Amino acid sequence: MRTSIKSRIILILGLFYFMTGVVFAGEPTDIVFLTWKTSQPKVWANLIEEFQRENPGIRVKLQVAPHSSTQYHAIVTQRLKNKDASVDVFFMDVIWPPEFANAGWLLDLTPRFKEQQRAKFLPGPIAANTYRGKIYGVPCYLAAGLFYYRSDLLRKYGFEPPRTWDEMLSQGYEILKGENDPALSIYSAQFKQYEGLVCDMMEFIWSNGGTVIDPKANRSTLAEPPAVDAVSFVRDRIIGKASPRGALNYEEPESLELFIQGKAVFHRNWPYAWSIANNPKRSRIAGKTGVGTLPAFPGHAPASALGGWQFGINRWSRHYDEAWRFVQFMTSHQSQRTLALKAGLAPTRRSVYQDLEVRKKMPHLKAFLPAFEKARPRPLSPVYQMISQELQRFFSRAIAGRKSNIPALAGVASKKIQKLLELGAMVQR
Ligand code: GLC
Repeated sequence: MRTSIKSRIILILGLFYFMTGVVFAGEPTDIVFLTWKTSQPKVWANLIEEFQRENPGIRVKLQVAPHSSTQYHAIVTQRLKNKDASVDVFFMDVIWPPEFANAGWLLDLTPRFKEQQRAKFLPGPIAANTYRGKIYGVPCYLAAGLFYYRSDLLRKYGFEPPRTWDEMLSQGYEILKGENDPALSIYSAQFKQYEGLVCDMMEFIWSNGGTVIDPKANRSTLAEPPAVDAVSFVRDRIIGKASPRGALNYEEPESLELFIQGKAVFHRNWPYAWSIANNPKRSRIAGKTGVGTLPAFPGHAPASALGGWQFGINRWSRHYDEAWRFVQFMTSHQSQRTLALKAGLAPTRRSVYQDLEVRKKMPHLKAFLPAFEKARPRPLSPVYQMISQELQRFFSRAIAGRKSNIPALAGVASKKIQKLLELGAMVQR
C-alpha cells in the first residue's frame, strides 16, 4: 500500500516535471534588443532572424529609437536609470561605455569576453569599451569620418580630390560655375545640433592642428586660436555658402540624401554611405563617386573622428546568458562580414578585412584600415554626454549666427567644459 502511494506520487511528480519541462522547452525566452533606426533595417532584421533560427530557444524583440545618437542616448539612459529590466541588450555609441560603466548600468563582460577573444578586434574600439581595466561592450562596427566626392565631376574639370578645405571650395566654385545647376551645392555634411555636429566640428578643429580637450592635462582648449579659427571658417565659408543653410538641420541621413540625389559635389559621412551612394536603386550617382580622407587646413594633417557601435548588456536584465549568446552571434566574423557586404559597415574584427569577398567588393575598407586605426576618439569620460551637450550648444550657436562672437562664445563654453572635466575626474569610480 505504502509503496504504491509513494510510486504514485513519484509518477505524478515525474509527469509534472516532464510536462512542465516540455512546456518550458517549447516556450522560447524573449530578449529585448534596444537600438536606433539604421539606414539598412532589412540587413539587421535578416541577421536577427538567422540568430533565432540557430537559437530556437531565444526570441529577439526589437525596439527601435530615432536615428540621432543624442536622442537615442536620452531613451537608453532613461530606461537604465530606472533599472528597467525589460531591456536586455542594447546598442551603445562608442562614446558611452565610460558613462554607463561608471553609473553601474552595464554587465561586466570581462569573464565572458576573454583577452584572447579581444585580441581579435581592432585596439581602438576595445579601448573605447574598457573602463578601469574591465570590458563592458563588444564592438560591432567601427566608423571614421570619410570624404566622398563626385568622381565624374572631378574628372570632367580635371581635378584631383582636394587636400585642403580651401582647395575644396575653389574646385567646388569652379564646378558650380561650369554646371550652372542651381540645385547643386559644394559640400554636404552634418551641422544640426546633435552628436554628429561634434564629430564634424572636431574634424575641422583637429585638421587645423587644434584640439577641444587636451587629455593629458585634462584641460579645455576650445578657446585657443586653432579651434576658434576652424569654427570661424565653417561659419564664414561653409554654412549658407558651400553648404545650403538647411545643412544646419542635417543629420547623416539628410546630408547623404543631398549627395545621392546628385545635389552636392563633396560629402562627409561614415563608411556606410559608400554602399548606399553606389546602390542604383537608392542613388542617382551610383558609380560616380570616390571616397578618401577628409581635407585639412594648409600645413596640417587631416583627421577623422572615431565612431562606431557596440553591444552592451543591461545589468538589470534577467537573461544574461541569452543576451550574451545574441551579442556573440551579432559580433561574430560571419555577422560582421554580412554587415560589411550588405550594409557597408566597417568591421571591428581584423579577420573580416582579410576576407576575400570583402576585399574584392569593398576595396575601400581595406584601403582605409590604417586611417581607421588612427581615427581620433572623442574624449573618453564618464561625463562625456554633458561635455558634448556643451559643445553642441557652442558649435551650433557659433556657426548658425551670422555675426556670432566666436571667441567670446568659445571662452564661455571652454570654462564650462573645464568644470565638467574636473567633475569627470571626481566622479570616476
Ligand atoms: C555615427 C557614429 C557615432 C557617432 C554618430 C554621430 O553613428 O558611429 O559614433 O556618434 O554617428 O552622429
